Amino acid sequence: MRNIIVSYDKKRGIGAENDLLWLRDLPADLRHFREVTMGHAVIMGRKTYESIGKPLPGRQNIVISRQKYTVEGAIVVGSLEEAFSRVDPDKEVFVIGGGETFRSAVAYVDRIYATEVQETFSAAGIFFPQLDQATWKEVSREKHEADEKNKYGYDFVIYDRV
Ligand SMILES: NC(=O)c1ccc[n+]([C@@H]2O[C@H](COP(=O)([O-])OP(=O)(O)OC[C@H]3O[C@@H](n4cnc5c(N)ncnc54)[C@H](OP(=O)(O)O)[C@@H]3O)[C@@H](O)[C@H]2O)c1
Repeated sequence: MRNIIVSYDKKRGIGAENDLLWLRDLPADLRHFREVTMGHAVIMGRKTYESIGKPLPGRQNIVISRQKYTVEGAIVVGSLEEAFSRVDPDKEVFVIGGGETFRSAVAYVDRIYATEVQETFSAAGIFFPQLDQATWKEVSREKHEADEKNKYGYDFVIYDRV
């Protein structure tokens, strides 16, 4: 199965200056990302790879770049199509960002795991696209209030292609 996993704010902002907007303020989101993707394959754009700085442990890592680029511990390919074709046959795959990569990947995936952060970040400069409501249906939503560890409210939502 092909999936996207993404976190966005109330205006669908996902990032600023090659960093997450709520990086240390929502540990529950990092844990959710780890649990959902662990043991599977992850596809990411070169800029997102560089912002993470190392391959994600316990997952097959695939980086897309149009340049000659190498990463120890990851497969580097020149297109999204090639990235999907290199996924180990026993694994699900998750496209994990960033903005440019998500914009292309929406057309290829069946499911989107979205963390909808209940806050607007004015620093956001990179956005997740609006989903076509005729194509995507919300199939589950788990709401969480802010708490002592998580500074903002957030919903874990799953959208499936209809
Ligand atoms: N909130 C979230 O869920 C989330 C998740 C991940 C990232 N982010 C944020 O997103 C931002 C990064 O996003 P971004 O849009 O700047 O970059 P990106 O999508 O991570 O990476 C873009 C790069 O990937 C390569 N690429 C993209 N599409 C390609 C294609 N179709 N074929 C071949 N190569 C392709 C190119 O690399 P080359 O330039 O090497 O050719 C391109 O410059 C950061 O702020 C990061 O923190 C947020």
